[in-house]
Amino acid sequence: MDRIVVKRSGPLSGQIPIAGAKNTCLKLMCASLLSDEPLTLTNVPRLSDVATLSELLESLGVQIGRLDEGRTLALSATDLTSHLAHYDIVRKLRASFNVLGPLIGRTGEAIVSLPGGCAIGARAVDFHLEGLKAMGAKVDLKDGYVYASGDLKGAEVEFPFPSVGATENVMCAAVRARGTTVIKNAAREPDTKALADCLIAMGADIEGAGTEQIVVRGVDRLHGATHRVITDRIELGTYMVAPGIAGGEVECLGGTRDLLAAFCDKMEAAGLEITQTDAGLKVRHPGGRLKAVDVTTAPFPGFPTDLQAQFMAMMCFAEGTSTLEETIFENRFMHAPELIRMGANIDVQGNTARVTGVDHLRAAPVMATDLRASVSLILAGMAAEGETIVNRVYHLDRGYEHLVRKLRGVGANVERLSE
Ligand code: UD1
Repeated sequence: MDRIVVKRSGPLSGQIPIAGAKNTCLKLMCASLLSDEPLTLTNVPRLSDVATLSELLESLGVQIGRLDEGRTLALSATDLTSHLAHYDIVRKLRASFNVLGPLIGRTGEAIVSLPGGCAIGARAVDFHLEGLKAMGAKVDLKDGYVYASGDLKGAEVEFPFPSVGATENVMCAAVRARGTTVIKNAAREPDTKALADCLIAMGADIEGAGTEQIVVRGVDRLHGATHRVITDRIELGTYMVAPGIAGGEVECLGGTRDLLAAFCDKMEAAGLEITQTDAGLKVRHPGGRLKAVDVTTAPFPGFPTDLQAQFMAMMCFAEGTSTLEETIFENRFMHAPELIRMGANIDVQGNTARVTGVDHLRAAPVMATDLRASVSLILAGMAAEGETIVNRVYHLDRGYEHLVRKLRGVGANVERLSE
């Protein structure tokens, strides 16, 4: 199994190109099921999650053409041959549960494996199912699968919490339903807005995406479209943290502040200098130690849970004590014990971690349980004495294209070892 070896690095200098957004791309790929005409996606990130979802879509009958070394995907769902999303694939990629809304919207029928829990929590799908039921779907759970069927009609769906996946599933189901669906307490994430923009380009009638109320008026059919995947704000934030740990200055190409305003505010409060340039976002470490800053994760436009681990890695070196509160997932401090093994001073109580900065960490072999936890350990390793070895690199391949190449490009001392 591959490993990544990180040595003390910095100060960093140079540019990092930010890829298309994984989470957006996966939902756009699912949306291709809604039309019998091709959906062409550009700026597609080359990630194992994209390959896994492609495999699932192909098992449903979607034909996928790959151009430009996989940066462009032409997804053609002209003839669907199956409406069964098998456990073997859904368990590998939770986002594949988002074929449910498009499948039932297009064919009136879907059988989709329940995704089950994962390393960061139970991650229920009850809001997805309640939303579809409100629209008239018959939903049964049997042998670990969701059996959903029915001609959907518009309804009012109010989520108890602005779930990203549930908003996207219900929005996709609603675009071809009879009548108007009003989604209240909807997710406002840029990914959800980008999905709505793509559906609109395909002929859907959607208003309010990006706000807490989305109105979808059903249409008879959707047509093909070509759509560009937006910049990955989580990859962007991850590389913005790199100079925060290793020092120096990095320009993240394609980055814009509106994607990450709350995160940028906290980075600045810690002492980093952020400038919007014509090409992207530039982050500069002014030298000395950063200040400890408190963070509470929240749905967009709040501080993203997907950047909490990286920010914690940075706070391990800050002056003072920072309190990081995780409000989205119940078990998202799996990186903390690994950082503690490297000498970090972290006290986790329930959903709150108190991080008191230390002068330096010591390298250690570490193991990560999810994508963002893994990358936080690599970032921490850039300011640790010795050689940090990060195992289970497959987590990183799910969400970071050319991670090692991009970090090396700005001078980081990072290497991937194959076995
Ligand atoms: C998406 C992102 C993920 C990000 C998360 C929150 C994708 C592929 N993944 O995940 O990277 O961390 O948003 O920004 O887009 N919940 C329920 N019942 C439901 C649905 C959700 O209780 O039916 C709970 C979840 O357990 C969790 C919270 O709501 O505690 C937020 O989940 P949600 O917004 O749905 O996250 P995902 O769409 O799974």
